[in-house]
Amino acid sequence: MAEEELIQTPKGMHDQMPEDCAYFSRIENACRRLAKDYRFDRIDFPILENAALFKKGTGETSDIVEKQMYTLRTKSGEILALRPEGTPSVVRFYLEHGARTWPQPVKLWYWGPFFRYEKAQAGRYRQFHQFGFEVIGGADSTLDAQVINIFYRLLNSLRIKDLTVEINSIGQLAERENYKKALVKQLKKNQSDLCPDCRRRLTRNPLRILDCKEATCQEIVRQLPHVVDYLSPECHQHFQEVLELLGELNIPYRLNPHLVRGLDYYTRTVFEIVQTNDEEKKALVGGGRYDRLVDLLGGPPTPAVGGAAGIERIVQAMKESGRRVSYREKPEVFIAQLGPAAKKEAMRLFEELRQRGIKVAEAFGRDSLNAQLKRADRLGVKYVVIIGQKEALEETITLKTMSTGQQRLVKRSQAVSLIKKRL
Ligand code: HAM
Repeated sequence: MAEEELIQTPKGMHDQMPEDCAYFSRIENACRRLAKDYRFDRIDFPILENAALFKKGTGETSDIVEKQMYTLRTKSGEILALRPEGTPSVVRFYLEHGARTWPQPVKLWYWGPFFRYEKAQAGRYRQFHQFGFEVIGGADSTLDAQVINIFYRLLNSLRIKDLTVEINSIGQLAERENYKKALVKQLKKNQSDLCPDCRRRLTRNPLRILDCKEATCQEIVRQLPHVVDYLSPECHQHFQEVLELLGELNIPYRLNPHLVRGLDYYTRTVFEIVQTNDEEKKALVGGGRYDRLVDLLGGPPTPAVGGAAGIERIVQAMKESGRRVSYREKPEVFIAQLGPAAKKEAMRLFEELRQRGIKVAEAFGRDSLNAQLKRADRLGVKYVVIIGQKEALEETITLKTMSTGQQRLVKRSQAVSLIKKRL
């Protein structure tokens, strides 16, 4: 008979192993704590959204929408997309639920899976997870600094090493248009040396050329003018304030004049938190101010700022920083049983010990006492409770102290409190 081929996960998607789930929980706990301290409320929103949300919000010419969005047509003809990022959804949420009437700014955070049809490679997946912190309804530079601060503190609390905040300001739309014109003018001189993607970007979205990874394009980019030189005095002042606040907060940052970020909605501050080692630079967090997005999605002009972090990348960074998260608690007591009556009693005792907060292990599926004791030994428990037929009948247990090998008979009615006292 021909063997059936095993069906595996789709390319770029992966299962989460128990160990990874433990890292995820640790990170989520850290997020919860910071969200509470900085007064951000948690929201969730659908994984499927109208594709138009991202076309209008993230931007028709962004790589995310142009190349990476998973879209589908439902039976009734709606065009939906698997969410490639969270910011447009948060703004949709803000508008749909009348959050404009809530005290401003509205501070929200989220956590969940996102989807991008990327070239699958290390640290870049087609299904990945992000958490994001967004502040809608405030233009003050302190909010930009607070968002960066939250992500930085969070990564620090997870003891991730070699972090740098890279920051830039890309100004408002009009300033950026002037900058784009200057870029195109300069780039046209070297057009033939650009990679095919960038040649296309030259007419569609020239800012994207600034973060092209091709060596020839990077060489050209180095000679290009800087966007900060095109900022209005107000934007300059705002950027200056953000930098001063980061200094105040002792956050090390590096000005990156070519950081523009791949999404169309950004204005003024843009930032990434990167982990750099000898071989590579990896973005763990990306974000910035998006004063245009509420407007783009049909609301009144409303300033906003936020960021999102890649959770798989944080897990990887934690592992590389030597940060271990154990996914199984070490048990304190093991219950071994022999015979049907003893097994029932052992199950009852397990429940009682568990409810008193004692970490208990068992191997109820095994009948050989020897095998059970071996398991207890391997788990490194302090005590083993042995319940045989005799103990079950006489309402006793045998309590074995593993460090000394000593055994004593204890009344069943006193077993739980005695074990609790000894631990
Ligand atoms: P982003 O830079 O596209 O920004 O994504 C944020 C982070 O998500 C990245 O720094 C990276 O760690 C992670 N990430 C992105 N794509 C992948 C992938 N294919 N595989 C693994 N990790 C990935 C945004 O998504 C914006 N919504 C951030 C934002 C929030 N801006 C303002 N508010």
